[in-house]
This record gives sequence, C-alpha cells and structure tokens, in this order.
Amino acid sequence: MRFCINVDHIATLRNARGEVQPDPVTFALMAEQFGVDGIVVHLREDRRHINERDVRLLRELITTKLDLEMAAVDEIIDIACDIRPELATIVPERRQELTTEGGINVIDNIKQIKNAIDRLHEAEITVSLFIEPDINQIDAAAEINADFIEIHTGNYANAVGEEELFDELERVRVAAKHAKKLGLGVNAGHGLNYINMKDFVAISEIDEVSIGHAVIARAVFVGLDQAIKEMRELTKQQ
Ligand code: PXP
Repeated sequence: MRFCINVDHIATLRNARGEVQPDPVTFALMAEQFGVDGIVVHLREDRRHINERDVRLLRELITTKLDLEMAAVDEIIDIACDIRPELATIVPERRQELTTEGGINVIDNIKQIKNAIDRLHEAEITVSLFIEPDINQIDAAAEINADFIEIHTGNYANAVGEEELFDELERVRVAAKHAKKLGLGVNAGHGLNYINMKDFVAISEIDEVSIGHAVIARAVFVGLDQAIKEMRELTKQQ
C-alpha cells in the first residue's frame, strides 16, 4: 500500500515559537527524498498549524502528490480550487478538538458535502471523504460521487485486547471490500503506528495510508530517514 506522511505536527512545532523553523515544507521535501508516496496537510479554518503559505509552497515544490485535508466550507474550497491538490480529503472539523476525532457524517450533511465534491470536481480535483468503516456511510459517499474514501482507523488504533483488535480490523476489512465493490478508491488513517500496521497491512483493498503522529514521533529519536524506512517496510504487502 502507498504511504503518505502528514506533516501538520512540524507546523505545530514551528508555530509554538512563532518562528520559521522547523519548516514543514522542507520536512516534506526531505520525506519525499526518503521515499514517501505523498504529502498530507490539513489546512484548518483556525490555521493552528499549516497555513496557506505552506500549502502554496508544497504545491509548487513537491514531486509526489499533495493530499489536502479540509472542511467542506466555502473559504477552504476556494483555496483548494485555486491550489489544486491531487487529492482533497474532506474531514469534519471542530475548533475544540486536539485532532480530527472521527469520520464525517456523510448522511447527515449530504447537501453540504455533495456541494463541496461538485465544486472540487469542477476544478478537476479528486475527492476523498474521511468516514467511519460503516456501510451506510460508504453507500452515501458513492451516491454523491466521491472518488475515494479514507477509512477512519481510530477505533482500530485504540482497540485493547485480541478480540477487540480483531473485531475492529474486521470492520475495516469489510468496509474496504464494500467500497472497492462500489468502485471507490480506499485510503485509511488515524492512529496507525509501527505496531498496529503489522496486521493492518494484510487488508489488500487499502490503496494508501496517511500517517502523521507515529512517524514524526519516531523521527525525533531515530531521524526521518530511518523512521520512513521502517514504516515503508511495514506497508509492503506480503
Ligand atoms: N487522516 C486524517 C483524515 C487525519 O485527520 C489524520 C490526523 O491529522 C491522519 C490521517 C493521521 O493521523 P495520525 O497523526 O494519528 O497518524
């Protein structure tokens, strides 16, 4: 499966001092040199980490692909249509959350999300919806012409004990198979790490994983090259 790295954390560290280092764009370019398949950033409405300058520079400089995570709101849709990432991933966004806390409810917000997909498609941007591994949500995503889904793997990542882990992995597997049958591309992310990837990689229907925290945390200790190499190895399907 493809492995894309989310570099939001580097921008958080930069912003902590209001200075220019560490620069998430430089970090992303290094990550590409070390072998990731793409760069992921979340341009939040409150700009708590990644800002517009970062996204524009990434667009200009990276040579893999850009996955822009975004809320389905006009301001960010306008920016996305202008910047034209290879992939726009629509995520729910709440100002109080520490990080994205779950998939977007496509069924309850169908008009807003359909409008966002239509606008992004007009700009020829491929669109993914970050959702729970839930058949009804997947059906709704297909109905409004999403190209991809990204399965929220938070429950799998938080599962405790063999039985719970097995059940959550199975939920993801069934969801991925269902999405593929409907012709959707299947990405996955949230909480994936060097331990839980070992079983996760067996789900052959997953095209791509989007990983931030675990890889950046490991890079602090072993360096980015090594952290990427290790995850790259784990994402190779057997
Ligand atoms: N995918 C989405 C949609 C996310 O919001 C996040 C978190 O920013 C991730 C993947 C990556 O999650 P993590 O940082 O836990 O690897």
